[in-house]
Amino acid sequence: MTETGSRVALRTITETVGTAWPEHQGFIAKSLAGRSDAVLDVSERLSDAILKLAPDIEGGLPALVADYRFLCEEIVLPEEMHFRRYDSYRLSRFEDANRECYANAPFMNRYMNGLLLSDVLWSNHAHAFAYFVDHYLPRLPAGGRHLEIGPGHGLLLYFAAASGHLSRIAAWDVSPTSIAKTRHALDLLGVTAPVELTLQDLFAAAAPGEDALFDGIVMSEILEHLEQPVAALQSAARWLAPGGLLWINVPANSPAPDHIFLFEGLDHAQAIAREAGLEVIDAVAFPMSGTTLARAEKHKLSISCSVLARRPG
Ligand SMILES: C[S@@+](CC[C@H](N)C(=O)[O-])C[C@H]1O[C@@H](n2cnc3c(N)ncnc32)[C@H](O)[C@@H]1O
Repeated sequence: MTETGSRVALRTITETVGTAWPEHQGFIAKSLAGRSDAVLDVSERLSDAILKLAPDIEGGLPALVADYRFLCEEIVLPEEMHFRRYDSYRLSRFEDANRECYANAPFMNRYMNGLLLSDVLWSNHAHAFAYFVDHYLPRLPAGGRHLEIGPGHGLLLYFAAASGHLSRIAAWDVSPTSIAKTRHALDLLGVTAPVELTLQDLFAAAAPGEDALFDGIVMSEILEHLEQPVAALQSAARWLAPGGLLWINVPANSPAPDHIFLFEGLDHAQAIAREAGLEVIDAVAFPMSGTTLARAEKHKLSISCSVLARRPG
């Protein structure tokens, strides 16, 4: 795993996972190959944050690694088998995903822990995370106001706080576990800037006042969790200042127990953003570890679709 070079935290994570799960070493090697230095640098910063959180998790880093393996083998794999067989996701209704996942605290806890490591170990997740850090955050103005909808484990929000140039940082999530995990992560990572965390269903948010608008909103790995992604984007866009940015990160062809809307690729993700009245200003597709975009498209393999859009001024 020479790609890790002097990146000590990244090497610690990859070696710990590789030791606990030797059969996964080949996947990790493929996932690291082809990452640019900029992406590896973000993976290193993220790994460093994860290593700071790990001692506080019951069972420490080994438990986090076990949750990552649980994500791969017991959460994603059965859904993948369903997807290959029926060409559709198993669930299609929010209330079923809510019952199976969001309202199931022990499951949600392991799921979010696993996703945390996937942001380092899965090439598509690592690239999307780096896009947020290197392309979305720097575009927000000094003193900008940032909202994340569905922070999950809270690490994107941590990087927003660490950027140091924002005046307001807020997040909404429908899952009490996600809100608690995000608060805990921000506290452990020493974030002192105020971060407003609200248990809030996106669709139930009241109409915003003029002074409550945001310069940037992030919806990462959430639209595929919703029955009506266009309506969700329209609902979120009401909270954007004119000209404000919306970063959407959606996995295409990516079965999971709480993925109920099937995105088919980057064009589909852009079409949904445009249907919601947004102007797309950048769009990039990141294929899953160890494959090319052409192959991922041909065989319906997982692709993270990163769409940066703007509310028309
Ligand atoms: C897979 S996590 C994404 C975490 C993080 N944003 C990331 O990119 O890794 C999806 C999150 O969206 C939240 N969520 C799902 N439906 C929601 C809704 N209607 N309103 C607010 N949050 C929602 C879930 O509770 C969960 O925390």
